[in-house]
Amino acid sequence: MHYLAIQGKQKLSGSVSISGAKNAALPLLALTLLSSRKLTITNIPEVADVKTLLQLLTNLGATSTCNNNTVEIDSTTVNSACANYDIVRKMRASILTLGPLLARFGHCEVSLPGGCAIGQRPIDLHLKALEQMGAVIEIKQGYVVAKAPKGLKGATIIFDKVTVTGSENIIMAAALAHGSSKLVNVAKEPEVVQVCEILADAGVKIEGIGTSQLIIAGSGGKLLDIPDFKVIPDRIEAGTYLCAGAITKSKITLTNVNPKHLEAVTLKLEQMGFKIDETRDTLTIHPGEKQLPSDIETSEYPGFPTDLQAQFMALCTQAKGTSIIDERLFENRFMHVSELSRMGANIKLKGHSATVEGKAKLNAADVMATDLRASSALILAALVADGTTKIHRIYHLDRGYENLEGKFSKLGAQIKRLEE
Ligand code: EPZ
Repeated sequence: MHYLAIQGKQKLSGSVSISGAKNAALPLLALTLLSSRKLTITNIPEVADVKTLLQLLTNLGATSTCNNNTVEIDSTTVNSACANYDIVRKMRASILTLGPLLARFGHCEVSLPGGCAIGQRPIDLHLKALEQMGAVIEIKQGYVVAKAPKGLKGATIIFDKVTVTGSENIIMAAALAHGSSKLVNVAKEPEVVQVCEILADAGVKIEGIGTSQLIIAGSGGKLLDIPDFKVIPDRIEAGTYLCAGAITKSKITLTNVNPKHLEAVTLKLEQMGFKIDETRDTLTIHPGEKQLPSDIETSEYPGFPTDLQAQFMALCTQAKGTSIIDERLFENRFMHVSELSRMGANIKLKGHSATVEGKAKLNAADVMATDLRASSALILAALVADGTTKIHRIYHLDRGYENLEGKFSKLGAQIKRLEE
């Protein structure tokens, strides 16, 4: 096991290149199950979750090679439709193979993902939608056993809640269904939009891309002529580095980023007193005269992303005054609070709301990562803490941040990965 040792009170400078989005790469790798040809995918982040999904696809019979952010994958050779527990338990996004496998093979068995640190994370909306498309679904010994021997039928699906991977699963299933589907209350995250755009490039007729209502004309079970593609930049990684510049009062530039995907985030930083310059594919953050507290409420895109809630909480500990943070999407996404408090933060929890009193003096400590984004909040706190902080269980970080200590070191952080 490794841990990160981070020396506090270091200024950052220079630029950092943003990787491809983990939460786009995962559904797009599942999408290869619908492809009639071998695909070359560029700008794939080399993170543990991507490796896990590639392992799952290989276990199903796909062949793939992966080097310097390019994946060559041939899923036409897939000959099994059973995604087993030992991989799915490692990464709940494996559930993204459910829709494509069922649409392609007419049957599949995918292990139930189980909960995770941030919440119970059910998949009832995924299953309900597939049943409306004609699937017969049973839960047997912890597996979703789905059957649609005559293929899936187009249907009108109204999602009771906005669900990102639920939308992606059903969009992919509808692309191969017999007949047209109307999806209502679909997630509008850029990662969902890219799945739609690639399906449209493959000849699937989709109306309403980027809106919460889609009409998808299915191919009737025919595999799709999907073109090679490049994964969009990771807006959550980008937001994390913007917070690193903000919390250390440094001027840093992010390259290979899409500012349009971060409007709620850059607006919030400007309201907190930071100055942001943008071009087509860069963002530069400048320290402000003084850092203001902020009220944050997480919501679905284009609102403030839940995946940056923990990072902004770390930032708010350094603002003079009271910040209120409302986590609206997940019931337990405050695992970082106890660890930040151990470093000296003053945070009170009441239900899904956290009250952060600043400015708190943070001291280095041994802290423990609990989930992917909570871990990055601890890095931000460590950058301004007095002393050297040790962050343990950093396998959580490796799931979603590519070359993390390399990128932070390039910005001037004193950060080392050491053996426990
Ligand atoms: C995706 O998770 C992301 N993961 C998450 O990022 C992100 O936090 C989340 O969307 C919200 O933006 C990937 O894209 C791989 P949801 P997902 O279904 O799809 C409830 C990270 O750090 N719900 O949009 O699993 C659910 O409990 C990860 O990169 C149901 O009730 O999230 C939650 O309260 C963490 N029933 C809300 O909807 C369902 O069937 C939103 O969940 C599905 C979801």
